[in-house]
Amino acid sequence: MPLTYEFAAPRRIVFGSGKRRELGKLVADLGDRAFVIVGSRTLMASGEIGELLTLLQTARVDAILLDTISREPLVTDVNRVAGLLKQQGPRAGDVVIAIGGGSAIDLAKAVVAVAAHPESEGIVDFLEGVGRGVAVTRETLPVVAVPTTAGTGSEATRNAVISSYEPTFKKSIRSERLLPKLVVVDPELALSLPPAVTAATGMDAITQLIESAVSRRRAPIPMALALSGLSGAVAALRVAFLDGSNLAARETMAHAALLSGMALANSGLGLAHGVAAALGVHAQVSHGLACAVMLPVAMRFNLTTCETEFAQIGEALSGREWPTRRAAAEAGLSTIEGLLFDLRISRRLRDLGVTEEQIPQLARDSKGNSLSGNPRDVSEGELCELLAAMW
Ligand SMILES: [Fe+2]
Repeated sequence: MPLTYEFAAPRRIVFGSGKRRELGKLVADLGDRAFVIVGSRTLMASGEIGELLTLLQTARVDAILLDTISREPLVTDVNRVAGLLKQQGPRAGDVVIAIGGGSAIDLAKAVVAVAAHPESEGIVDFLEGVGRGVAVTRETLPVVAVPTTAGTGSEATRNAVISSYEPTFKKSIRSERLLPKLVVVDPELALSLPPAVTAATGMDAITQLIESAVSRRRAPIPMALALSGLSGAVAALRVAFLDGSNLAARETMAHAALLSGMALANSGLGLAHGVAAALGVHAQVSHGLACAVMLPVAMRFNLTTCETEFAQIGEALSGREWPTRRAAAEAGLSTIEGLLFDLRISRRLRDLGVTEEQIPQLARDSKGNSLSGNPRDVSEGELCELLAAMW
């Protein structure tokens, strides 16, 4: 087979504890007016946002607080915030800064896309599988991503996941133009995350690293990123869960999450993410928790299809060599099972509020972009069986 691939990533990544204090001059390199989207009210109350606005003003960047979002973004959120942006008369020299988890960063990406296409009727036009298939053909305002949760990797991806409850869906807008132009990862921002959020978001990153390494569209650079991100991530997540103030553990997880975003954006995902989208929209299970629950099931289902890759993953996760590929692959799976136990994450769907009657609907709505990357074909019937067994 000839070696051929493409790889796209954010234009500039600045990583390190305390680096948020350089945001003023970093943003000033991109523009002179910044619209800020904040990912939670807690973050607003923490004083971090006030400091950010001061940093921007000191660097002669006009700063305007656009919105705060405390949930995964809905179609209505995107259209409302895009309306707010349009009222400001976007112009060259504007940037949109998203500081928060994946929700804030996804909202920013979706908003700049809608704002760049005033003729569109809103975000639904752009969403895969539900909209009119409108492409992002114009250059958008640059997005600056400042992740605070060490999980989704959205700071390094070209898609935004948008949900709707009427009708019910969770779909992506996707375009190379939505890749953030600047990413500033400051692991100190995650120091105050509560243990349950640390666990769920960390499991999202680990799931992304594993799924991108075995995806049907797997490629050399994402594989290298995945193995690098996985080594050390399990130990670091355990420490960060037990002692949120451990900066070294927060650094390892922030780095793993960033790599997971770069990996998935260039390889695709699989079964766990396919079902996670359906669990989110039908049972309101948070994305990270849904990934965590699905990960061991997806690994078991795919194990024999990608034994070589799973053996490499097993060695990265367990930190040692094994006599056979199968033993290494199994070691990876049992490391993940042990991690879920330590993070006190239930592996039963009923504990997440899923009813048995929802299973056929979940199986039906799991199909989509992520599932199409799964290395082994999975039918709706097989999905029903897998979900019933974990109910
Ligand atoms: Fe994810």
